[in-house]
Amino acid sequence: MKKIRKAVLPVAGLGTRVLPATKSTPKEMMPVVDRPALQYVVDEACEAGIEHIVFVTGRNKGSIEDYFDRAYELEATLRDRNKTGLLDRITSELPEAGSTSFVRQQSPLGLGHAIWCARDVIGNEPFAILLPDVLVKAEKSCLAQMVEAYERVGGNIVAVDEVPMERISSYGVIAPKGRADGNLVEMSAMVEKPPTDRAPSNLKITGRYILQPEVMKLLSDQAAGASGEIQLTDAMTRLMKQQTFHALKYDGQDYDCGSKYGYFEANVAFAIDHPEIGEEARALLKRLQQA
Ligand code: G1P
Repeated sequence: MKKIRKAVLPVAGLGTRVLPATKSTPKEMMPVVDRPALQYVVDEACEAGIEHIVFVTGRNKGSIEDYFDRAYELEATLRDRNKTGLLDRITSELPEAGSTSFVRQQSPLGLGHAIWCARDVIGNEPFAILLPDVLVKAEKSCLAQMVEAYERVGGNIVAVDEVPMERISSYGVIAPKGRADGNLVEMSAMVEKPPTDRAPSNLKITGRYILQPEVMKLLSDQAAGASGEIQLTDAMTRLMKQQTFHALKYDGQDYDCGSKYGYFEANVAFAIDHPEIGEEARALLKRLQQA
């Protein structure tokens, strides 16, 4: 079984659900407490043993590349001012040289198309996908849990979570096949953004995947589906005819930072555990509750 070494992070999206904040700032760079949302997702990938990250980027996303690079002027200024703690922080979180790639998705044709843009860098090995809109707060990173499951059952793994039926049509939805083995269940089908009455379950796809490279070939001729976009879910459905798919109900809580409320929720959830401001944040919440 080949190790999962590479991850694709599609960061080309426009972030229309959080306008106007995203008018001139990529949504992935908006801070959750004191770090860009994207850094949490990169950390999750690294914790799962990922060695190379492929960012699928687009116009006006230059600040993402800059964030994962040295910032000599800033570093020099911090050094002159003896701010060694901050200096260490901004340099120690940098990815190792050569461990990131940036490919462009020139037109917003859908998630499936974005993933396909990474095909040459992925090559012929299984890989992970992390949708950076979704932050998962968990003891053990969501992707690390998926890698463990992958080492047990192989094939393709999709992270899922229960969602109230009135919100199900905003997501990809899976159909479980047979009985679950703990938190892992084989899948028999999946569908992108079904109408509520046609949803095969209340299990949404959370935005974390481990896929075999054959999905790239299917994506190359995938027709547009839901919302007129080339959907990853549709290509996975075709791959399911040849390979197994398991759904993992991971331990943890997801936050959809692509929406105003989800972004706010993520900030609160990460603030209350933050080493510097956690105590104050918890006290503030208590005060607001009593007011
Ligand atoms: C994408 C996927 C969908 C998944 C969702 C998770 O949809 O296509 O299957 O459930 O992410 O956030 P999007 O939110 O890009 O419309």
